[in-house]
Order: sequence, then C-alpha cells, then structure tokens
Amino acid sequence: MNAMDELTLVQPDDWHVHLRDEDALAMTVPAAAQSFGRSVVMPNLVPPITKLDQARSYYQRIIKHRPVGSDWQPLMVLYLTDKTTPEDILEAKDSGLICGCKYYPAGATTNSDSGVTNLRGLDDVFAAMQDVGLVLQLHGEVTDDAVDIFDREAEFIERYLIDIAEQFPQLKIILEHVTTEQGINFVRSRSANVAATITPQHLLYNRNDMLVGGMRPHLFCLPILKRDHHQRALIDAAISGDKQFFLGTDSAPHARHAKEAECCSAGCFSHHAPLELYAEVFERENALQHLEAFASLNGPEFYQLPLNTKRVTLKREEWTLPATINYGDEELVPLAAGEALRWRCLPAG
Ligand code: DOR
Ligand code: ZN
Repeated sequence: MNAMDELTLVQPDDWHVHLRDEDALAMTVPAAAQSFGRSVVMPNLVPPITKLDQARSYYQRIIKHRPVGSDWQPLMVLYLTDKTTPEDILEAKDSGLICGCKYYPAGATTNSDSGVTNLRGLDDVFAAMQDVGLVLQLHGEVTDDAVDIFDREAEFIERYLIDIAEQFPQLKIILEHVTTEQGINFVRSRSANVAATITPQHLLYNRNDMLVGGMRPHLFCLPILKRDHHQRALIDAAISGDKQFFLGTDSAPHARHAKEAECCSAGCFSHHAPLELYAEVFERENALQHLEAFASLNGPEFYQLPLNTKRVTLKREEWTLPATINYGDEELVPLAAGEALRWRCLPAG
C-alpha cells in the first residue's frame, strides 16, 4: 500500500474524557481502551471525586470493564472544591494514582454544582500542586450571570488565568478544551508549563454549524462552540505540532433523550471514532504529518510520562459513522453521526 494511504503513529492518549460510572462504564471503558493507551478520567460524578479514597474505588470500578488483554490505563483526577486542602494534594501525589486536579467553576457545566466558588481561595492548594508537580486542569470559564456565554472563556483568562500563571510560574496548567483565539494566544504567550487540550468538536465545527438552519443539540457542549475565527485559531494550533497543544476529546456521553430535550445537556460523545475525527481535520489541512505530535507525543511530554510503546495505523478508507450508539438501555447520537470520514483506524498492536 502507498505510504500516502497509510499512517502509523505511536499509540495516542486521551488527556480528557468523561467515562461516567456504574452501567455506563460497560460502554465507555472499552471505547476508551479501543483507541488510547491512557485516558485522563474527569471526576465530575455525583458526588464528585474529591478525595483519594474515592478516586481509588472509582479506579477499581473502571478497571473491571477493561477488555481482556488490554493494557489501557485510566489516569485519575481529583475534583477541586472550596474545601480542598494542601494535605489532599500531598496525599494525592504520594499515592501515585492521581495525575492532576480539575477546577470547575461552580455551576459551569454537567455535574459542577460542588465546584469552586472562590478561585483565589485556592492559593495554598495551587502552591502545593506546584511544589509536588500535580497538573492543574482548568475548565476555564467564568459563570458570572452578567457575562455572555460566548465570552466566558476569554473573561476567565483576563480575570484569573493571567494572574495564576504569573503567581505560580512552575505550576503545570492545562486550559482544557480551549475554544477561543484568546485561549490559544494565552497558551502561546506562556512557557511550556502551560498547555491546552483541544476537542474534535471544536476543530470540526463552529457555532454556525450548531445554530444556522435549526438548532443541533448534539453539538451543544461547554465551553460552547465559538465563531469561525476561533475555530481557525484552534485548527492552526492543533496542526502546528507545537508541544503546548494536544489531544483531549472531552468525549461525554449523554443519552439521546437528555440532548433532545427542552433543556439540552452539554457534551458530545466522540469515542466511537476519535482518531478518525481528528485525522479528518488534519487531512483537510494537509497536515497529517503533525497528527502524531498532537495525538501521541505532546501530551506525554507535558505530563512527563513515557510514550506508549504500541503503534496504531490509520488507513485511507471512506466509511460512514453510525447514526446512533447503544448506551446501556438507551442510545446516544455520537459526534458527526451519519457523516463520511476518510481515515479508519486499525486496532493497536
Ligand atoms: O460539554 C461538556 N460536557 N462540558 C463539560 O465541561 C462537561 C461535559 C460532561 O461531563 O458532560
Ligand atoms: Zn470535560
């Protein structure tokens, strides 16, 4: 086969995913293990994973669903609250189980009710994270009612992030699921301690795709899709190969009825074809040569973890994504449902 029709990469990792809990794990864990070597598992359960012992038992529940023969690893995260202490951080680091702590502003998104109400009250916690080298994973939006939903990320950067990065220069910070040009510019303006993950939905779509000609609930996620020049800035960052940008799907399952509802829940499921969805973006941009940096190299370097030893191969092949996916007793509509893709992934070996 012609080299142009086949692409072999170091096996990628997913630096941001929502696996949920209990019955959902029967679908989400095999899906994650199918494409990735490791996955950073977000802690926004009900109740959230705020303590090490909760993370340990969540890890056990996840691992039970890992397919036989797979060596996929979940990387666990603690959910920051107003009550998190520096002792929680030290204990988390000592355990070797926890790779980072997730900041959700209270009320920003799905299951974020126990999130932080006063970010500046966490200075001691950030200092401890900086000392021990735990990564601060930010849902970078303000939740102030007075701030328009499309401006919430930019406002977070101005109001908080610039100061935090200045005050804790050695703290490793990820602006998770970055959605704006301001976010990209901020990351580029900082040292290698600051990075961003980028989702497939924010690369493939902008707010017109969600809102013109009728509202498409399956594209509704948070932070919300922005206008086209922001999408362009995200694409440029992802395809640059720059070490500060890497793959984080933010794949977040929601049953169809919860999305096609009077009040649509936020989140897109992309673990049916995550690499293929990213490959589509890189293909369109003629940048497939930088897919491996984005998907497989930059994340481990940031987290100071070894590269995966397996390889995955993508083949040029037209295929159509499924319209729905089974999700326990329900179904969900995955990202780009029913759309055609040009690359298809073979299992890792
Ligand atoms: O769209 C989103 N869905 N954004 C988040 O921050 C959370 C996620 C979820 O858990 O469903
Ligand atoms: Zn998320």
